[in-house]
Amino acid sequence: MNTNEVICTCAEINEQQIVSAIRNQNLKTLDEVCETTGAGMVCGGCRPVIQEILNKLNK
Ligand code: FES
Repeated sequence: MNTNEVICTCAEINEQQIVSAIRNQNLKTLDEVCETTGAGMVCGGCRPVIQEILNKLNK
């Protein structure tokens, strides 16, 4: 959590950027996270990982 590990290689979005967007903008759904960060909009391969991050944060 909160690492610089790249989650979305297509858009070069790392975990920290995704976590910050979810927290700061109170994002609830995968689509919201993708639209806001730009991750998950190309090949879609990272979407399950983004969903996992959402799940972890919303526990
Ligand atoms: S790895 Fe995220 S859209 Fe391709």
